[in-house]
Amino acid sequence: MTESAETQQHPVAGNRFVAIWTSVIGKKVVMAVTGAVLILFVIAHMVGNLKIFSGQEEINAYSRFLREVGWPELGYGQLLWLVRIVLLVCAVLHITAAVQLTRMNWRALPVGYENRKDVETTWGAVTMRWGGLLLAVFIVFHLLHFTGGLVGFQSGQFEHLMVYQNVVAGFSVLPISLFYIVAMGALCLHLDHGIWSMFQTLGWVTVQNTKSIRTFSRLVAIIIFVGFISVPISVLAGWLR
Ligand code: HEM
Repeated sequence: MTESAETQQHPVAGNRFVAIWTSVIGKKVVMAVTGAVLILFVIAHMVGNLKIFSGQEEINAYSRFLREVGWPELGYGQLLWLVRIVLLVCAVLHITAAVQLTRMNWRALPVGYENRKDVETTWGAVTMRWGGLLLAVFIVFHLLHFTGGLVGFQSGQFEHLMVYQNVVAGFSVLPISLFYIVAMGALCLHLDHGIWSMFQTLGWVTVQNTKSIRTFSRLVAIIIFVGFISVPISVLAGWLR
């Protein structure tokens, strides 16, 4: 469906934000901007995780620092909560826009078109949707696992703020490590296409820079993949214990 056709279906005089949200391009911009915030978090988190290679003291102190930062202006954990709220809002908007755009796409397809096997563009899009779903499942599991210690640990094994010990114990369980590695593969694919799409939506792709932006997206996705999987692999290999 074209942008103008979509806007006509939802006449929203007066409220600019609603007008942006109800248009196809508006949803794409919301996906691009929230995606950018989420990518920045993922990069910061990946770099933070690498502190585990500097030893227990370093990474456990980092976990305390994340809660104490901003003191005395901010109370214990307040900045962390602010970051959590921003991330949650971005994730909800990102997923909602993705689901709605998918539905709009399906509705806009001529009858029978959705069953065609020869439509070249659907491959990337299908990977984005299933990969995105896997990532959503992963994040829920991950929060229950390393933030809450509610799954994947024997009773009494998980200790709040003892990130090093928690990560080593958590990744000593092979199926859990494998799940993380597969999920990081999905994240890599999602970012490879997602970063590229984000640049396109924001209008930064030109004929001259298309190839460089594709390479850049792939490179960032691979660096994030390698950075994240280095932790479970190091635990499984016995380099971190
Ligand atoms: C091998 C990969 C990963 C490892 C080892 C890892 C490790 C951790 C650990 C140890 C924590 C708890 C930190 C603390 O309590 O101080 C944490 C929290 C978190 N991680 Fe990951 N993580 C990984 C991948 C990811 C990915 C790919 C995402 C997002 C796409 C993610 C999102 C989060 C979030 C949202 C939190 C909660 C932060 C909070 O509210 O305290 N993680 N992670």
